[in-house]
Amino acid sequence: MIVTTQQLYKHAYLKYAVGAYNINNAEQTMGLFKGCIDSKAPFIIQLSKGARKYTDKRILEAIIRTCEEIFPEAIFAVHLDHGDEDTCYDCIDSGFYSSVMIDASHEPFEQNVAITKRVVDRAHAKGISVEAELGMLGGVEEDIKVDEGHANLTNPDEAVEFVKQTKCDSLAAAIGTSHGAYKFKGQQSLRFDVIKEITARIPGLPIVMHGSSSVPVEEVRRINAAGGELDPSARGVDQEEYLPAARLGVTKVNIDTDGRLVWTRVHREFFRDNPKEFDFRPPGKVFQSEYAAFIANKNVKLGSADQLADLRKSLAA
Ligand code: G3H
Ligand code: 13P
Ligand code: ZN
Repeated sequence: MIVTTQQLYKHAYLKYAVGAYNINNAEQTMGLFKGCIDSKAPFIIQLSKGARKYTDKRILEAIIRTCEEIFPEAIFAVHLDHGDEDTCYDCIDSGFYSSVMIDASHEPFEQNVAITKRVVDRAHAKGISVEAELGMLGGVEEDIKVDEGHANLTNPDEAVEFVKQTKCDSLAAAIGTSHGAYKFKGQQSLRFDVIKEITARIPGLPIVMHGSSSVPVEEVRRINAAGGELDPSARGVDQEEYLPAARLGVTKVNIDTDGRLVWTRVHREFFRDNPKEFDFRPPGKVFQSEYAAFIANKNVKLGSADQLADLRKSLAA
Protein backbone atom coordinates (compact mmCIF):
# COMPACT_ATOMS: atom_id res chain seq x y z
CA MET A 1 0.00 0.00 0.00
CA ILE A 2 1.37 3.38 -0.98
CA VAL A 3 0.98 5.91 1.83
CA THR A 4 2.16 9.48 2.19
CA THR A 5 5.70 10.13 3.31
CA GLN A 6 4.24 12.26 6.11
CA GLN A 7 2.34 9.24 7.46
CA LEU A 8 5.59 7.30 7.66
CA TYR A 9 7.37 10.23 9.33
CA LYS A 10 4.60 10.67 11.89
CA HIS A 11 4.97 7.06 13.05
CA ALA A 12 8.78 7.02 13.02
CA TYR A 13 9.72 10.47 14.36
CA LEU A 14 12.18 10.23 17.28
CA LYS A 15 11.65 6.43 17.49
CA TYR A 16 13.31 4.94 14.39
CA ALA A 17 14.41 5.90 10.88
CA VAL A 18 12.66 4.87 7.68
CA GLY A 19 15.05 3.41 5.09
CA ALA A 20 14.88 5.26 1.77
CA TYR A 21 16.31 2.97 -0.90
CA ASN A 22 17.18 3.99 -4.45
CA ILE A 23 15.97 1.58 -7.09
CA ASN A 24 16.80 1.38 -10.79
CA ASN A 25 15.37 -1.89 -12.08
CA ALA A 26 13.08 -4.86 -11.46
CA GLU A 27 15.61 -7.04 -9.65
CA GLN A 28 16.34 -4.34 -7.07
CA THR A 29 12.65 -3.56 -6.59
CA MET A 30 11.70 -7.21 -6.05
CA GLY A 31 14.57 -7.66 -3.59
CA LEU A 32 13.58 -4.47 -1.78
CA PHE A 33 9.96 -5.55 -1.29
CA LYS A 34 11.00 -9.02 -0.16
CA GLY A 35 13.55 -7.64 2.32
CA CYS A 36 11.01 -5.22 3.79
CA ILE A 37 8.32 -7.90 4.10
CA ASP A 38 10.79 -10.35 5.67
CA SER A 39 11.83 -7.70 8.22
CA LYS A 40 8.26 -6.34 8.62
CA ALA A 41 9.40 -2.78 7.93
CA PRO A 42 7.84 0.25 6.24
CA PHE A 43 10.10 1.87 3.64
CA ILE A 44 10.53 4.62 1.06
CA ILE A 45 11.36 3.81 -2.56
CA GLN A 46 13.30 6.62 -4.11
CA LEU A 47 13.93 7.30 -7.76
CA SER A 48 16.70 9.59 -8.94
CA LYS A 49 16.70 11.49 -12.24
CA GLY A 50 19.33 9.00 -13.42
CA ALA A 51 17.11 6.04 -12.51
CA ARG A 52 14.12 7.57 -14.33
CA LYS A 53 16.27 7.81 -17.44
CA TYR A 54 18.05 4.44 -17.14
CA THR A 55 14.78 2.53 -16.85
CA ASP A 56 12.06 4.71 -18.34
CA LYS A 57 10.06 6.34 -15.52
CA ARG A 58 6.88 4.66 -16.81
CA ILE A 59 8.48 1.24 -16.57
CA LEU A 60 9.68 1.98 -13.02
CA GLU A 61 6.15 3.05 -12.05
CA ALA A 62 4.72 -0.15 -13.55
CA ILE A 63 7.28 -2.29 -11.69
CA ILE A 64 6.46 -0.59 -8.39
CA ARG A 65 2.69 -0.87 -8.91
CA THR A 66 3.08 -4.56 -9.77
CA CYS A 67 5.18 -5.18 -6.66
CA GLU A 68 2.47 -3.45 -4.65
CA GLU A 69 0.02 -6.08 -5.95
CA ILE A 70 2.41 -8.99 -5.39
CA PHE A 71 3.23 -7.86 -1.83
CA PRO A 72 -0.08 -6.53 -0.44
CA GLU A 73 1.33 -6.36 3.11
CA ALA A 74 3.95 -3.76 2.12
CA ILE A 75 3.51 -0.18 3.38
CA PHE A 76 5.70 2.33 1.56
CA ALA A 77 6.00 5.78 -0.01
CA VAL A 78 7.43 6.76 -3.40
CA HIS A 79 9.85 9.69 -3.48
CA LEU A 80 11.87 11.66 -6.05
CA ASP A 81 15.52 11.82 -4.95
CA HIS A 82 17.62 14.94 -5.71
CA GLY A 83 15.14 16.57 -8.07
CA ASP A 84 15.62 19.77 -10.03
CA GLU A 85 12.63 22.08 -10.40
CA ASP A 86 11.32 20.62 -13.67
CA THR A 87 11.64 17.02 -12.52
CA CYS A 88 9.80 17.91 -9.30
CA TYR A 89 6.90 19.32 -11.33
CA ASP A 90 6.85 16.25 -13.55
CA CYS A 91 6.56 14.01 -10.47
CA ILE A 92 4.01 16.23 -8.72
CA ASP A 93 1.82 16.27 -11.82
CA SER A 94 2.13 12.52 -12.40
CA GLY A 95 0.00 11.69 -9.35
CA PHE A 96 2.27 8.74 -8.52
CA TYR A 97 4.75 10.23 -6.05
CA SER A 98 4.17 10.64 -2.31
CA SER A 99 6.90 13.28 -2.01
CA VAL A 100 9.65 15.02 -3.95
CA MET A 101 13.06 16.35 -3.05
CA ILE A 102 14.08 19.69 -4.50
CA ASP A 103 17.83 19.98 -4.32
CA ALA A 104 18.92 23.56 -4.84
CA SER A 105 21.58 23.35 -2.13
CA HIS A 106 24.32 24.32 -4.61
CA GLU A 107 22.60 27.72 -5.08
CA PRO A 108 23.10 30.72 -2.76
CA PHE A 109 20.69 30.76 0.23
CA GLU A 110 18.16 33.20 -1.29
CA GLN A 111 18.01 31.29 -4.57
CA ASN A 112 17.64 27.99 -2.73
CA VAL A 113 14.74 29.51 -0.76
CA ALA A 114 13.05 30.91 -3.89
CA ILE A 115 13.27 27.66 -5.88
CA THR A 116 12.22 25.52 -2.91
CA LYS A 117 9.26 27.79 -2.18
CA ARG A 118 7.95 27.46 -5.75
CA VAL A 119 8.14 23.67 -5.55
CA VAL A 120 6.50 23.60 -2.09
CA ASP A 121 3.56 25.72 -3.30
CA ARG A 122 2.93 23.49 -6.26
CA ALA A 123 3.39 20.24 -4.28
CA HIS A 124 1.25 21.27 -1.32
CA ALA A 125 -1.59 22.22 -3.67
CA LYS A 126 -1.68 18.52 -4.60
CA GLY A 127 -1.12 17.11 -1.11
CA ILE A 128 2.47 16.10 -1.82
CA SER A 129 5.24 16.82 0.67
CA VAL A 130 8.66 18.29 -0.07
CA GLU A 131 12.16 17.51 1.17
CA ALA A 132 14.64 20.34 0.63
CA GLU A 133 18.40 20.51 1.16
CA LEU A 134 20.43 23.06 3.03
CA GLY A 135 24.20 22.78 3.42
CA MET A 136 26.35 20.74 1.09
CA LEU A 137 27.38 17.13 1.32
CA GLY A 138 30.64 16.02 -0.27
CA GLY A 139 30.66 13.49 -3.11
CA VAL A 140 28.54 13.23 -6.23
CA GLU A 141 24.86 14.25 -6.42
CA GLU A 142 23.48 13.54 -9.88
CA ASP A 143 25.82 15.51 -12.15
CA ILE A 144 27.14 17.88 -9.48
CA LYS A 145 30.42 16.97 -7.81
CA VAL A 146 31.33 18.63 -4.51
CA ASP A 147 34.88 18.15 -3.19
CA GLU A 148 35.30 17.54 0.49
CA GLY A 149 36.82 21.01 0.92
CA HIS A 150 33.60 22.62 -0.32
CA ALA A 151 31.20 20.48 1.66
CA ASN A 152 29.44 22.62 4.32
CA LEU A 153 27.63 21.40 7.38
CA THR A 154 24.11 22.77 7.76
CA ASN A 155 24.01 25.88 9.92
CA PRO A 156 21.13 25.47 12.44
CA ASP A 157 20.38 29.23 12.44
CA GLU A 158 20.04 29.19 8.67
CA ALA A 159 17.93 26.03 8.90
CA VAL A 160 15.35 27.83 11.08
CA GLU A 161 15.09 30.67 8.57
CA PHE A 162 15.06 28.29 5.58
CA VAL A 163 12.23 26.14 6.93
CA LYS A 164 10.22 29.19 8.03
CA GLN A 165 10.50 30.79 4.60
CA THR A 166 10.05 27.70 2.41
CA LYS A 167 7.57 25.68 4.52
CA CYS A 168 9.34 22.51 3.39
CA ASP A 169 8.19 19.32 5.18
CA SER A 170 11.58 17.73 5.86
CA LEU A 171 15.16 18.87 5.70
CA ALA A 172 18.11 17.13 4.07
CA ALA A 173 20.87 18.37 6.33
CA ALA A 174 24.61 18.07 5.90
CA ILE A 175 25.60 16.30 9.13
CA GLY A 176 29.01 14.93 8.22
CA THR A 177 28.21 12.35 5.52
CA SER A 178 28.88 12.33 1.78
CA HIS A 179 27.57 10.40 -1.21
CA GLY A 180 29.31 7.40 -2.77
CA ALA A 181 31.76 4.74 -1.60
CA TYR A 182 34.57 7.04 -0.49
CA LYS A 183 33.15 8.92 2.45
CA PHE A 184 35.75 8.85 5.14
CA LYS A 185 39.25 7.70 5.89
CA GLY A 186 39.77 6.21 9.34
CA GLN A 187 37.43 6.72 12.28
CA GLN A 188 34.59 9.17 11.86
CA SER A 189 31.25 9.94 13.38
CA LEU A 190 28.02 11.69 12.45
CA ARG A 191 27.78 15.28 13.67
CA PHE A 192 25.30 14.58 16.46
CA ASP A 193 25.81 18.13 17.73
CA VAL A 194 24.36 19.54 14.48
CA ILE A 195 21.44 17.06 14.48
CA LYS A 196 20.61 17.93 18.10
CA GLU A 197 20.77 21.65 17.44
CA ILE A 198 18.45 21.49 14.42
CA THR A 199 15.89 19.40 16.30
CA ALA A 200 16.07 21.70 19.33
CA ARG A 201 15.33 24.72 17.13
CA ILE A 202 12.79 23.10 14.80
CA PRO A 203 11.03 20.43 16.87
CA GLY A 204 8.79 18.15 14.81
CA LEU A 205 10.77 18.57 11.59
CA PRO A 206 12.05 15.26 10.19
CA ILE A 207 15.73 15.44 9.27
CA VAL A 208 16.90 13.44 6.25
CA MET A 209 20.35 11.89 6.21
CA HIS A 210 21.86 11.54 2.74
CA GLY A 211 25.04 9.59 2.07
CA SER A 212 24.12 7.01 4.73
CA SER A 213 25.70 3.89 3.24
CA SER A 214 28.07 2.03 5.54
CA VAL A 215 30.41 0.70 2.79
CA PRO A 216 31.18 -2.60 4.58
CA VAL A 217 34.88 -3.48 4.58
CA GLU A 218 34.05 -7.15 3.92
CA GLU A 219 31.96 -6.25 0.85
CA VAL A 220 34.85 -4.19 -0.57
CA ARG A 221 37.30 -7.02 0.21
CA ARG A 222 35.13 -9.61 -1.61
CA ILE A 223 34.66 -7.34 -4.64
CA ASN A 224 38.42 -6.83 -4.88
CA ALA A 225 39.10 -10.55 -4.39
CA ALA A 226 36.86 -11.16 -7.42
CA GLY A 227 38.68 -8.70 -9.68
CA GLY A 228 37.44 -5.30 -8.46
CA GLU A 229 39.72 -2.37 -7.78
CA LEU A 230 37.93 -0.39 -5.09
CA ASP A 231 40.01 1.55 -2.59
CA PRO A 232 40.22 -0.83 0.41
CA SER A 233 40.40 2.13 2.79
CA ALA A 234 36.87 3.26 1.75
CA ARG A 235 34.64 3.78 4.82
CA GLY A 236 31.01 4.77 5.36
CA VAL A 237 28.64 5.58 8.20
CA ASP A 238 28.82 3.32 11.25
CA GLN A 239 25.48 1.44 11.19
CA GLU A 240 25.35 1.56 14.99
CA GLU A 241 24.88 5.35 14.67
CA TYR A 242 21.62 5.10 12.68
CA LEU A 243 19.39 4.53 15.69
CA PRO A 244 20.95 7.15 18.00
CA ALA A 245 20.59 9.63 15.11
CA ALA A 246 16.95 8.58 14.61
CA ARG A 247 16.20 9.26 18.28
CA LEU A 248 17.48 12.82 17.75
CA GLY A 249 15.31 13.53 14.69
CA VAL A 250 16.88 11.78 11.68
CA THR A 251 13.73 10.16 10.28
CA LYS A 252 14.71 9.21 6.70
CA VAL A 253 18.02 7.51 5.93
CA ASN A 254 19.06 7.38 2.25
CA ILE A 255 20.92 4.30 1.05
CA ASP A 256 22.07 3.62 -2.48
CA THR A 257 25.81 2.83 -2.59
CA ASP A 258 25.62 -0.21 -0.26
CA GLY A 259 23.05 -1.81 -2.59
CA ARG A 260 25.35 -1.20 -5.58
CA LEU A 261 28.15 -2.95 -3.68
CA VAL A 262 25.88 -5.99 -3.16
CA TRP A 263 25.17 -6.08 -6.91
CA THR A 264 28.86 -5.81 -7.80
CA ARG A 265 29.98 -8.46 -5.30
CA VAL A 266 27.31 -10.96 -6.40
CA HIS A 267 28.01 -10.55 -10.10
CA ARG A 268 31.81 -10.48 -9.87
CA GLU A 269 31.86 -13.60 -7.69
CA PHE A 270 29.28 -15.39 -9.81
CA PHE A 271 31.10 -14.94 -13.10
CA ARG A 272 34.49 -15.61 -11.50
CA ASP A 273 33.17 -18.92 -10.13
CA ASN A 274 31.15 -19.81 -13.27
CA PRO A 275 33.34 -18.67 -16.17
CA LYS A 276 31.33 -20.61 -18.75
CA GLU A 277 28.03 -18.99 -17.69
CA PHE A 278 26.45 -16.27 -19.82
CA ASP A 279 22.81 -16.32 -18.68
CA PHE A 280 22.17 -13.28 -16.49
CA ARG A 281 19.25 -14.91 -14.67
CA PRO A 282 21.20 -17.20 -12.30
CA PRO A 283 23.25 -14.30 -10.82
CA GLY A 284 20.10 -12.13 -10.98
CA LYS A 285 18.35 -14.65 -8.70
CA VAL A 286 21.30 -14.67 -6.30
CA PHE A 287 21.29 -10.87 -6.33
CA GLN A 288 17.58 -10.64 -5.47
CA SER A 289 17.92 -12.83 -2.41
CA GLU A 290 21.21 -11.22 -1.28
CA TYR A 291 19.68 -7.76 -1.76
CA ALA A 292 16.60 -8.80 0.25
CA ALA A 293 18.85 -10.03 3.09
CA PHE A 294 20.86 -6.78 2.93
CA ILE A 295 17.67 -4.67 3.15
CA ALA A 296 16.29 -6.72 6.05
CA ASN A 297 19.54 -6.27 7.97
CA LYS A 298 19.57 -2.49 7.28
CA ASN A 299 16.02 -2.20 8.58
CA VAL A 300 17.09 -3.87 11.84
CA LYS A 301 19.88 -1.28 12.21
CA LEU A 302 17.47 1.58 11.42
CA GLY A 303 14.93 0.33 13.95
CA SER A 304 12.23 0.11 11.25
CA ALA A 305 12.12 -3.70 11.38
CA ASP A 306 9.01 -5.07 13.11
CA GLN A 307 7.20 -1.69 12.95
CA LEU A 308 4.71 -2.73 10.27
CA ALA A 309 1.94 -4.07 12.55
CA ASP A 310 1.97 -0.99 14.80
CA LEU A 311 2.05 1.33 11.79
CA ARG A 312 -0.92 -0.50 10.25
CA LYS A 313 -2.86 -0.07 13.50
CA SER A 314 -2.09 3.64 13.70
CA LEU A 315 -3.04 4.17 10.03
CA ALA A 316 -6.39 2.50 10.68
CA ALA A 317 -7.08 4.57 13.84
O1 G3H B 1 22.47 10.68 -4.18
C1 G3H B 1 22.43 10.13 -5.28
C2 G3H B 1 21.89 8.76 -5.36
O2 G3H B 1 22.84 7.82 -4.92
C3 G3H B 1 21.39 8.47 -6.76
O3 G3H B 1 22.43 8.16 -7.61
O4 G3H B 1 21.97 9.73 -9.50
O5 G3H B 1 23.52 7.79 -9.79
O6 G3H B 1 21.04 7.43 -9.56
P1 G3H B 1 22.23 8.29 -9.22
P1 13P C 1 24.93 6.72 -0.39
O1 13P C 1 25.79 7.06 -1.57
O2 13P C 1 25.67 6.81 0.90
O3 13P C 1 24.23 5.41 -0.53
O4 13P C 1 23.77 7.85 -0.29
C1 13P C 1 22.63 7.77 -1.11
C2 13P C 1 21.82 9.02 -1.08
O5 13P C 1 22.02 9.92 -0.30
C3 13P C 1 20.72 9.11 -2.06
O6 13P C 1 20.08 10.34 -2.00
ZN1 ZN D 1 21.44 11.97 -1.59
